[in-house]
Amino acid sequence: MIKILPSILSADFARLADEIHEVEEDVDLIHVDVMDGHFVPEITLGAGAVHAIHQSNLVAMDVHLMVNEPIHLLPSFIKAGAEYISVHAEACTHLHRVVQLIKEGGVKAGVALNPATPVSAIEPILNDIDYLLIMTVNPGYGGQTFIYNMVNKIKQAHERIVSQNLPVTIEVDGGINSETLPLCLKAGASMFVAGSAVFGRKNRHQAIEELVRSAGT
Ligand code: DX5
Ligand code: ZN
Repeated sequence: MIKILPSILSADFARLADEIHEVEEDVDLIHVDVMDGHFVPEITLGAGAVHAIHQSNLVAMDVHLMVNEPIHLLPSFIKAGAEYISVHAEACTHLHRVVQLIKEGGVKAGVALNPATPVSAIEPILNDIDYLLIMTVNPGYGGQTFIYNMVNKIKQAHERIVSQNLPVTIEVDGGINSETLPLCLKAGASMFVAGSAVFGRKNRHQAIEELVRSAGT
């Protein structure tokens, strides 16, 4: 089963609750990008906003932490009601500990890899995580162009996961649309973050439907 995760980065922040209401019947999860102005240049929102979304919407949240040393922020995001939390391998001095903390909080733990970071960087902890987030653009902004070389990286990761028989899901994020989604699906991804391909469109329901249809399911 594939999952489409609308990324609220491309939504209208002034009417966020309404924006989320527009997609919550069509998806199981929404993707929330947290940026700290250090790991990536921009600043978006924090645990307070995640908590507010949790209170006013029914849909579960996948929180993508683009922050340096997220270990300090984890307790507030866990408390805020995130169901999935991913941290960047490049941003954690003690990645294994961070992953354990997320899991101890009862949250699904993901590790994200920048385009230039090889899959081998997380090989020793592949059996500790619930999902691997392969960035298909450099993190920081919505609306960027998909990096086609990442399809091979998804394949590589998928092969390692399958050969070790691990229950790890592959999520992709950046430049996902109805042309790039099938490539990632074929390579082994099953969770697809889509920002501009959903919230950049007037009819969100139709946009999600098009993405699902592109997967041939
Ligand atoms: C980029 C974010 C993405 C972003 C994707 O740093 O992690 O989640 O919202 O946006 P699109 O789908 O427009 O590339
Ligand atoms: Zn993201």
